[in-house]
Amino acid sequence: MIIYGKNVGSAAGPFVLLFIFGLSLTSYYWKRSATQYGTDGQTSKPELSRSIRRSQITDDTFTQLEDKYSFIIAPYFDNRSAPSVRVIIIVHHEKVKELYCLFFCQTDNVIPVRGQLNLHSDRFGFPYVTADLLCSEPQDCYPQYVSLHTSPEPNLVQLPVFKIKNRSSEGTSVEFTVCISTMFGSYNNILQFIQSIEMYKMLGAQRVVIYKNSCSQLMEQVLRYYISEGTVEIVPWPIHLYLNVSHYWHHSMDAKDIGYYGQTAALNDCIYRNMYRSKYVLLNDPDEVILPLKDADWKSLMQRLQEKNPSAGAFQFDNYVFRNNVFAPSVPFNFSSWDSLPGVNMFLHIHKEPIQKGSFNNRKMVVDPRKVIQTSVHSVLKINGESVEVPNGDAITFHCRRPEWKDLPEKSLVQDTVLWRYNTTLIANVNKVLQKSNILKANTKV
Ligand SMILES: *[C@@H]1O[C@H](CO)[C@@H](O)[C@H](O)[C@H]1NC(C)=O
Ligand SMILES: *[C@@H]1O[C@H](CO)[C@@H](O)[C@H](O)[C@H]1NC(C)=O
Ligand SMILES: *[C@@H]1O[C@H](CO)[C@@H](O)[C@H](O)[C@H]1NC(C)=O
Ligand SMILES: *[C@@H]1O[C@H](CO)[C@@H](O)[C@H](O)[C@H]1NC(C)=O
Ligand SMILES: *[C@@H]1O[C@H](CO)[C@@H](O)[C@H](O)[C@H]1NC(C)=O
Repeated sequence: MIIYGKNVGSAAGPFVLLFIFGLSLTSYYWKRSATQYGTDGQTSKPELSRSIRRSQITDDTFTQLEDKYSFIIAPYFDNRSAPSVRVIIIVHHEKVKELYCLFFCQTDNVIPVRGQLNLHSDRFGFPYVTADLLCSEPQDCYPQYVSLHTSPEPNLVQLPVFKIKNRSSEGTSVEFTVCISTMFGSYNNILQFIQSIEMYKMLGAQRVVIYKNSCSQLMEQVLRYYISEGTVEIVPWPIHLYLNVSHYWHHSMDAKDIGYYGQTAALNDCIYRNMYRSKYVLLNDPDEVILPLKDADWKSLMQRLQEKNPSAGAFQFDNYVFRNNVFAPSVPFNFSSWDSLPGVNMFLHIHKEPIQKGSFNNRKMVVDPRKVIQTSVHSVLKINGESVEVPNGDAITFHCRRPEWKDLPEKSLVQDTVLWRYNTTLIANVNKVLQKSNILKANTKV
């Protein structure tokens, strides 16, 4: 193991330099918490090692390394099996063979550690893949910052430096967080989005994290409302600036760099980001709602499921497609004010495709983030514990979208008004949001 000594401009006027460091750091953290994640709760004053210059520190969602084939999302302290740092990354599956964590120790030494590079198994044929890099922390180092490189001896002055997210001390803890990966394609499904968020809140969500690539102006206004309300947290996700992204999930459908806007990277980041601030994490798209059928809310559902399966850390719910192009003959919940908004009114769609026997079901999950090591979209890849398929009499994934089982005729659809159970509260809550956020007025202007 090579150990670097103190370096980088600490010779001239150390006191003046330290003072300037302090000032710029303060403004950096002030700026960051004001602009980036709002409620992230990053209040702890970091002690900056003298080997790092402020300009090296980055909190961007994506940072490309010198090798051009590695993109760093974020390093997380992971003490589950040994004190280590797990870095969520996207890499080219063939070009990247080894990566080093360069730990900035409290003693001002910089210690390189070769990481264990774990490419996730759900690459779906694309050349770029979500991965995690597991680096053991050196003894007596207590790093707060880490850098990454393909070699153990890079020129430190030019490297990007990341603050290790120390998850156990960040933010307030909640019971349920919904992770929405990823919002893209100038997303403008306003009405369905508001209905979904209000459903999540009614069922027990206290936080919704949205990985946002792009959305419409009107949607920006909706998001601003939910951010100010304290429900929504945005993680900027400008992946298209770094890689050619596909709208599809498999390479054979669209030969780009990476599938579906890097969805699996976003999901893994969301699990680590919320590991110590949410008891459960739901991995959903905005057109999906995990609906309990026997319980009033997620809390009661999860208590029951967890009691039955004490060692389970992932719960999968059958996905039912409620076709958004098939309308109920007459719907008691069709309001002209809603009708004027862009997007789908989920109340109008009560015809679901039956479960296709012997065919893959796109189940969605509720997970205990502290047990998950790696996740995919419909199942976990690595977990300390079991993964359970929840019987569809207990709960389902309500998924209001275009047909999935395309050659199934309409007469074979099953009528199901399960969402109507929530009519009274959902209608009132949606109307409250429309009023408070001024969305209807903004909509008539566009
Ligand atoms: C990591 O886990 C070990 C064993 O559970 C514990 O003794 C130690 O305090 C933990 N370290 C930190 C920094 O939380
Ligand atoms: C992480 O947070 C814990 C709890 O707040 C704290 O005791 C520990 O020193 C922190 N570790 C690092 C490496 O910052
Ligand atoms: C995407 O591919 C095109 C050529 O097919 C290339 O010119 C462009 O630089 C690529 N963009 C990114 C972000 O990699
Ligand atoms: C809902 O109401 C609008 C008019 O406000 C009407 O055009 C539409 O057909 C109605 N849809 C259903 C499913 O009843
Ligand atoms: C609307 O919800 C109430 C309970 O709040 C329920 O009694 C009623 O049947 C629902 N209406 C429809 C048409 O399902």
